[in-house]
Amino acid sequence: MKHLVKQIAEKSRNDFPLFNGNNNNLIYLDHAATSQKPKEVIDSLEKYYSSQNANVHRGAHQLSAIATEKFEHSRKLTANFINSNNEKEIIFTRNATEAINLVAYTWGNYQLQENDEILISLMEHHSNIVPWQLIAKAKKCKLIFIKVNKNGELDLDDFRKKLNDKTKLVSVVHVSNTLGCSNPIEDITDLAHQKGSLVFLDACQSLAHKPVDVKKLGIDFLAGSSHKLCGPTGVGFLWAKEEILEKMPPFLGGGEMIHEVFEDQSTWADLPHKFEAGTPAIGEAIGMGTAINYLQSIGLQAIHNYEKELTKYLFEKLAEINHLKILGPNPLLQPDRGPLATFYIKGIHSNDIAELLDNSNICIRSGHHCCQPLHRFYGIKSTARASLSFISTPSEIDSLTEELKSIISFLKKNS
Ligand code: ALA
Repeated sequence: MKHLVKQIAEKSRNDFPLFNGNNNNLIYLDHAATSQKPKEVIDSLEKYYSSQNANVHRGAHQLSAIATEKFEHSRKLTANFINSNNEKEIIFTRNATEAINLVAYTWGNYQLQENDEILISLMEHHSNIVPWQLIAKAKKCKLIFIKVNKNGELDLDDFRKKLNDKTKLVSVVHVSNTLGCSNPIEDITDLAHQKGSLVFLDACQSLAHKPVDVKKLGIDFLAGSSHKLCGPTGVGFLWAKEEILEKMPPFLGGGEMIHEVFEDQSTWADLPHKFEAGTPAIGEAIGMGTAINYLQSIGLQAIHNYEKELTKYLFEKLAEINHLKILGPNPLLQPDRGPLATFYIKGIHSNDIAELLDNSNICIRSGHHCCQPLHRFYGIKSTARASLSFISTPSEIDSLTEELKSIISFLKKNS
């Protein structure tokens, strides 16, 4: 792995201003919560607000034309990033949560009938549970959960049992933010389509870690988030097949999404603008395009190869710690899994672990990670999670392990 550390992590780390100066010794292992931002992305925000700021698709002036061109270029980059060759299929949203809500409210409202079924899994983030609960209740549909198996992976047999002619949508996560497992999306899509169901993919935890190809996966909808891709907060996107988007009614009403407005009715703008009411997060969308370019310049496959090795190392090191239990599949069982480890130690609260690690400049996340049903399934309220990226290094994992050993022995002695 040594040459990959040099080639990927050490080389890229200099691109991130946060690790220079005061934060030189910071060990940031919370990339699944939000990624750090490279200078290129920060510069692109600075450039937009200091020299290109104007509203898009509105002004006749040159500045507006420049902002519009940059904004629409970012849409092309986003489409290309997930191998859609049609930028009309990219809808900019505030975040991935809004992308899921958009589909639940618009597609769900016109497409779902009483007694239809929506299949999601027990490992979903709350953002891929609550919107479906709301629309299922409003339309008198059933929301059904696919189980997790004993290895902490999606239970495909349970999925096969629960999928039926009434299933109208399967909405699952690509890589779980808690279990880290990578779900077999191509198989899920094949089976779902055989029953006439569409498939929605929450790709928040996969897009920055491996190549994601909507055509290969065969999915119908995808939600992505900029801030997990080294991009700014405040912007995310929905991808959906053009023919599906064409049939969906608008989400929010207002400026930008209309063709004509009369006193008694309105007509809608063409895709993708039909779904983009109001002034969008222009600078942030441009910044997301810069972040995508940045990740592509390193190479998503190269990132994946490096993070796979690093995840194996993380699991090996955590295995040295007595009483520590990890949720989700071991990378030896699922080499393609996501680069994170969620763990707990009986008798020790994960918030105590996170706070004591923070005293040593190590950032991890603790809590339920917006996955309460999954934590309830395991009979625990809270876990600790260390999550990696292409700028993480084996020596950071060594520091985490050493600190964890001493924290656990301290807490056990004092409990
Ligand atoms: N969904 C993000 C996480 O898993 C915030 O931490």
